Amino acid sequence: MVGEQPHSIAHQRGDGRLSAPSASRNLSPIVDAMETFVPSQGVALELASGTGEHIVAFAQAFPQVTWQPTDISAERLNSIDAWRAELGVQNMRMAQFLDASAPAWHSGPMEMIVTVNLMHLIPDETAQAVIAGVARNLAPGAVWFLYGPFRTGGQFRSEGDASFHATLSGQDPLIGYKDLETVQAWAEKAGLHTVDLIEMPANNLALVLRRTSD
Ligand SMILES: C[S@@+](CC[C@H](N)C(=O)[O-])C[C@H]1O[C@@H](n2cnc3c(N)ncnc32)[C@H](O)[C@@H]1O
Repeated sequence: MVGEQPHSIAHQRGDGRLSAPSASRNLSPIVDAMETFVPSQGVALELASGTGEHIVAFAQAFPQVTWQPTDISAERLNSIDAWRAELGVQNMRMAQFLDASAPAWHSGPMEMIVTVNLMHLIPDETAQAVIAGVARNLAPGAVWFLYGPFRTGGQFRSEGDASFHATLSGQDPLIGYKDLETVQAWAEKAGLHTVDLIEMPANNLALVLRRTSD
């Protein structure tokens, strides 16, 4: 199995909730990988929450934190709130519209930011704007957990990844897989240091970055 499909692959459940097969597949490994980095209190912001299936599970797995979901899609914001209501999750706020690449968004300082499967769907310039926004909104010493498919050492990590990238860049030549090292360099410049790199199923990676203390 390769990378995960773009956000169009989500199914209606008839009550506003959307389900994405990729989101249920990667949820449990993501929760396991995040565990060490979730703070003991405060607010964790998710950028590009999608259907909301992930963040309701994060909120249930890590009840010591208040979880803030965000996205740019009205349908997905609706789905997130529907998941929250259906499962009766208490430590989770209403979904908010947030363009993670907007030049001056301010919602922090956050004790953690989580982003799953966004970077390969946006252009380089947008990705750098997302990184700047994360750096602006993380509390000093707090962590950004960034999950997704990347190229490493200039290579795709499987044939399937190369083919998924080709599909994406066929749809829009500006989007597609980013080089891990490039993302780390952009992040470093913004004051976000790599503290961990975790191998995940389906050739994905979880890159954990910490904001320098001022
Ligand atoms: C592939 S989905 C991933 C959703 C979820 N994180 C997951 O893994 O199931 C990508 C999501 O990014 C959102 N998105 C795209 N561009 C965005 C931006 N600039 N700011 C915030 N969200 C964005 C889309 O609306 C979509 O919900």
